[in-house]
Amino acid sequence: MCPRPARQPPVSVEFLGSFPKRLPAPELPEVAIAGRSNVGKSSAINTLLVRKRAARVSKTPGRTQAINLFRIDHRFTLADLPGYGFARVPDAVQHQWKALVEGYLGTRETLRLVVCLVDARHGPQKNDLALLSGLRAAGLHYRVVATKVDKLTRNKRKGTLTKLARGLGEDKLVPFSSLSKEGVDRVWELIDAAVKG
Ligand code: GTP
Ligand code: MG
Repeated sequence: MCPRPARQPPVSVEFLGSFPKRLPAPELPEVAIAGRSNVGKSSAINTLLVRKRAARVSKTPGRTQAINLFRIDHRFTLADLPGYGFARVPDAVQHQWKALVEGYLGTRETLRLVVCLVDARHGPQKNDLALLSGLRAAGLHYRVVATKVDKLTRNKRKGTLTKLARGLGEDKLVPFSSLSKEGVDRVWELIDAAVKG
Protein backbone atom coordinates (compact mmCIF):
# COMPACT_ATOMS: atom_id res chain seq x y z
CA MET A 1 0.00 0.00 0.00
CA CYS A 2 1.16 3.50 -0.77
CA PRO A 3 0.81 6.28 1.78
CA ARG A 4 -1.80 8.86 0.86
CA PRO A 5 -0.29 11.85 -0.92
CA ALA A 6 0.54 14.51 1.64
CA ARG A 7 0.30 17.54 -0.60
CA GLN A 8 -2.96 19.41 -0.72
CA PRO A 9 -4.53 19.18 -4.17
CA PRO A 10 -4.82 22.39 -6.19
CA VAL A 11 -7.79 24.55 -5.35
CA SER A 12 -8.30 26.01 -8.79
CA VAL A 13 -7.97 24.19 -12.10
CA GLU A 14 -9.03 26.17 -15.17
CA PHE A 15 -9.15 24.51 -18.54
CA LEU A 16 -7.75 27.08 -20.97
CA GLY A 17 -8.56 25.09 -24.07
CA SER A 18 -7.44 22.53 -26.56
CA PHE A 19 -5.04 23.91 -29.16
CA PRO A 20 -4.37 21.95 -32.34
CA LYS A 21 -2.21 24.72 -33.81
CA ARG A 22 -1.41 28.08 -32.29
CA LEU A 23 -1.23 28.37 -28.55
CA PRO A 24 -2.20 31.43 -26.53
CA ALA A 25 0.73 33.58 -25.46
CA PRO A 26 2.39 32.14 -22.36
CA GLU A 27 1.68 33.95 -19.12
CA LEU A 28 2.78 31.74 -16.23
CA PRO A 29 5.59 29.21 -15.73
CA GLU A 30 4.67 26.07 -17.59
CA VAL A 31 5.05 22.32 -17.05
CA ALA A 32 4.43 19.90 -19.91
CA ILE A 33 3.52 16.24 -19.72
CA ALA A 34 4.91 14.29 -22.67
CA GLY A 35 5.00 10.64 -23.66
CA ARG A 36 3.78 7.96 -26.02
CA SER A 37 0.16 7.52 -26.88
CA ASN A 38 -1.69 5.63 -24.19
CA VAL A 39 1.18 5.82 -21.68
CA GLY A 40 -1.12 7.53 -19.19
CA LYS A 41 -0.48 11.29 -19.54
CA SER A 42 -4.09 12.38 -19.12
CA SER A 43 -4.58 9.93 -16.25
CA ALA A 44 -1.46 11.28 -14.55
CA ILE A 45 -2.79 14.82 -14.87
CA ASN A 46 -6.12 13.86 -13.34
CA THR A 47 -4.29 12.02 -10.55
CA LEU A 48 -2.03 14.98 -9.82
CA LEU A 49 -4.93 17.42 -9.88
CA VAL A 50 -7.19 15.05 -7.92
CA ARG A 51 -9.88 15.60 -10.54
CA LYS A 52 -11.83 12.83 -12.20
CA ARG A 53 -12.02 14.32 -15.64
CA ALA A 54 -9.82 17.41 -15.97
CA ALA A 55 -7.99 15.67 -18.82
CA ARG A 56 -9.74 13.19 -21.04
CA VAL A 57 -8.65 9.57 -20.53
CA SER A 58 -9.18 7.14 -23.35
CA LYS A 59 -8.70 3.49 -24.14
CA THR A 60 -8.11 4.49 -27.77
CA PRO A 61 -4.51 5.60 -28.23
CA GLY A 62 -3.87 8.81 -30.09
CA ARG A 63 -6.99 10.55 -28.86
CA THR A 64 -5.38 13.77 -27.68
CA GLN A 65 -4.21 15.45 -30.92
CA ALA A 66 -3.95 18.95 -29.54
CA ILE A 67 -2.16 20.61 -26.65
CA ASN A 68 -4.52 21.01 -23.72
CA LEU A 69 -3.68 23.76 -21.28
CA PHE A 70 -4.76 24.06 -17.65
CA ARG A 71 -4.12 26.99 -15.34
CA ILE A 72 -3.40 25.71 -11.86
CA ASP A 73 -4.02 27.90 -8.81
CA HIS A 74 -3.15 30.98 -10.91
CA ARG A 75 0.43 29.85 -10.33
CA PHE A 76 1.48 27.82 -13.35
CA THR A 77 0.18 26.23 -16.53
CA LEU A 78 0.08 22.51 -17.16
CA ALA A 79 0.26 21.34 -20.77
CA ASP A 80 -1.06 17.90 -21.74
CA LEU A 81 0.86 17.14 -24.94
CA PRO A 82 -0.51 14.81 -27.61
CA GLY A 83 1.01 11.34 -27.45
CA TYR A 84 3.46 10.08 -30.02
CA GLY A 85 4.25 6.75 -31.54
CA PHE A 86 0.84 5.32 -32.22
CA ALA A 87 1.31 3.23 -35.35
CA ARG A 88 -2.25 3.40 -36.64
CA VAL A 89 -2.27 7.18 -36.84
CA PRO A 90 -1.84 8.23 -40.50
CA ASP A 91 1.45 9.77 -41.61
CA ALA A 92 -0.09 13.19 -42.12
CA VAL A 93 -1.25 13.23 -38.49
CA GLN A 94 2.18 12.06 -37.26
CA HIS A 95 3.74 14.97 -39.13
CA GLN A 96 1.24 17.38 -37.67
CA TRP A 97 2.05 16.00 -34.24
CA LYS A 98 5.78 16.46 -34.77
CA ALA A 99 5.34 20.05 -35.94
CA LEU A 100 3.05 20.91 -33.02
CA VAL A 101 5.10 19.32 -30.25
CA GLU A 102 8.53 20.20 -31.59
CA GLY A 103 7.37 23.76 -32.21
CA TYR A 104 6.02 23.92 -28.68
CA LEU A 105 9.15 22.48 -27.02
CA GLY A 106 11.42 24.65 -29.12
CA THR A 107 9.71 28.00 -28.58
CA ARG A 108 7.73 28.06 -25.34
CA GLU A 109 9.79 30.52 -23.31
CA THR A 110 7.98 29.87 -20.06
CA LEU A 111 8.50 26.10 -20.18
CA ARG A 112 10.23 25.11 -16.93
CA LEU A 113 9.88 21.33 -16.83
CA VAL A 114 8.95 18.49 -19.15
CA VAL A 115 7.63 15.44 -17.33
CA CYS A 116 8.36 12.54 -19.68
CA LEU A 117 6.14 9.59 -19.03
CA VAL A 118 7.33 6.12 -20.02
CA ASP A 119 5.60 2.80 -19.46
CA ALA A 120 7.33 0.98 -16.60
CA ARG A 121 6.57 -2.39 -18.18
CA HIS A 122 8.25 -1.79 -21.51
CA GLY A 123 11.92 -1.43 -22.34
CA PRO A 124 13.16 1.84 -23.82
CA GLN A 125 11.21 2.68 -26.97
CA LYS A 126 12.75 4.33 -29.99
CA ASN A 127 10.51 7.37 -29.85
CA ASP A 128 11.06 7.81 -26.09
CA LEU A 129 14.78 7.89 -26.78
CA ALA A 130 14.22 10.40 -29.58
CA LEU A 131 12.23 12.68 -27.27
CA LEU A 132 14.87 12.51 -24.54
CA SER A 133 17.73 13.23 -26.90
CA GLY A 134 15.77 16.19 -28.31
CA LEU A 135 15.21 17.56 -24.79
CA ARG A 136 18.87 17.10 -23.88
CA ALA A 137 20.01 18.78 -27.08
CA ALA A 138 17.67 21.72 -26.42
CA GLY A 139 18.90 21.98 -22.83
CA LEU A 140 15.37 21.69 -21.46
CA HIS A 141 14.80 20.65 -17.87
CA TYR A 142 13.03 17.28 -17.82
CA ARG A 143 12.44 14.26 -15.62
CA VAL A 144 11.46 10.76 -16.63
CA VAL A 145 8.49 9.29 -14.79
CA ALA A 146 7.83 5.55 -15.13
CA THR A 147 4.11 5.07 -14.92
CA LYS A 148 1.81 2.04 -14.51
CA VAL A 149 4.24 0.65 -11.88
CA ASP A 150 1.16 -0.98 -10.33
CA LYS A 151 1.51 -3.52 -13.13
CA LEU A 152 4.99 -4.64 -12.04
CA THR A 153 5.27 -7.58 -9.72
CA ARG A 154 7.06 -6.95 -6.47
CA ASN A 155 10.04 -9.16 -7.25
CA LYS A 156 10.60 -7.83 -10.77
CA ARG A 157 10.09 -4.16 -10.00
CA LYS A 158 13.58 -3.09 -8.96
CA GLY A 159 15.35 -4.87 -11.81
CA THR A 160 12.85 -3.66 -14.41
CA LEU A 161 13.14 -0.02 -13.34
CA THR A 162 16.95 -0.12 -13.14
CA LYS A 163 17.18 -1.65 -16.60
CA LEU A 164 14.72 0.85 -18.03
CA ALA A 165 16.62 3.80 -16.52
CA ARG A 166 19.89 2.52 -17.92
CA GLY A 167 18.37 1.95 -21.35
CA LEU A 168 17.05 5.52 -21.40
CA GLY A 169 20.39 6.93 -20.30
CA GLU A 170 18.98 8.21 -16.99
CA ASP A 171 20.35 7.85 -13.47
CA LYS A 172 16.93 7.64 -11.94
CA LEU A 173 13.27 7.38 -12.84
CA VAL A 174 10.34 8.45 -10.71
CA PRO A 175 8.05 5.43 -10.17
CA PHE A 176 4.42 6.47 -10.61
CA SER A 177 0.95 5.01 -10.79
CA SER A 178 -2.35 6.70 -11.39
CA LEU A 179 -3.99 3.64 -9.90
CA SER A 180 -2.13 3.33 -6.58
CA LYS A 181 -1.14 7.06 -6.46
CA GLU A 182 2.48 6.11 -5.91
CA GLY A 183 4.84 8.93 -6.90
CA VAL A 184 2.24 11.71 -6.71
CA ASP A 185 4.10 13.61 -3.98
CA ARG A 186 7.44 13.23 -5.75
CA VAL A 187 6.07 14.60 -9.04
CA TRP A 188 4.48 17.52 -7.18
CA GLU A 189 7.86 18.26 -5.54
CA LEU A 190 9.44 18.40 -8.98
CA ILE A 191 6.68 20.64 -10.33
CA ASP A 192 6.67 22.97 -7.32
CA ALA A 193 10.46 23.33 -7.48
CA ALA A 194 10.36 24.05 -11.21
CA VAL A 195 7.63 26.71 -11.13
CA LYS A 196 8.57 28.62 -8.00
CA GLY A 197 10.32 31.96 -8.04
P1 GTP B 1 -3.15 9.76 -25.41
O1 GTP B 1 -3.95 10.97 -25.02
O2 GTP B 1 -3.82 8.90 -26.42
O3 GTP B 1 -1.75 10.09 -25.81
O4 GTP B 1 -3.04 8.79 -24.12
P2 GTP B 1 -2.60 9.18 -22.64
O5 GTP B 1 -1.12 9.08 -22.51
O6 GTP B 1 -3.22 10.47 -22.21
O7 GTP B 1 -3.19 7.96 -21.78
P3 GTP B 1 -4.50 7.92 -20.88
O8 GTP B 1 -4.30 8.68 -19.62
O9 GTP B 1 -5.68 8.25 -21.70
O10 GTP B 1 -4.51 6.37 -20.44
C1 GTP B 1 -4.46 5.31 -21.36
C2 GTP B 1 -4.92 4.01 -20.70
O11 GTP B 1 -3.99 3.61 -19.67
C3 GTP B 1 -6.29 4.11 -20.02
O12 GTP B 1 -6.98 2.90 -20.23
C4 GTP B 1 -5.93 4.29 -18.54
O13 GTP B 1 -6.93 3.83 -17.67
C5 GTP B 1 -4.65 3.45 -18.41
N1 GTP B 1 -3.74 3.93 -17.35
C6 GTP B 1 -3.27 5.20 -17.23
N2 GTP B 1 -2.45 5.31 -16.14
C7 GTP B 1 -2.39 4.08 -15.57
C8 GTP B 1 -1.71 3.56 -14.40
O14 GTP B 1 -0.96 4.22 -13.68
N3 GTP B 1 -1.91 2.22 -14.14
C9 GTP B 1 -2.70 1.43 -14.92
N4 GTP B 1 -2.80 0.14 -14.58
N5 GTP B 1 -3.37 1.90 -16.00
C10 GTP B 1 -3.22 3.21 -16.33
MG1 MG C 1 -4.26 11.94 -23.30
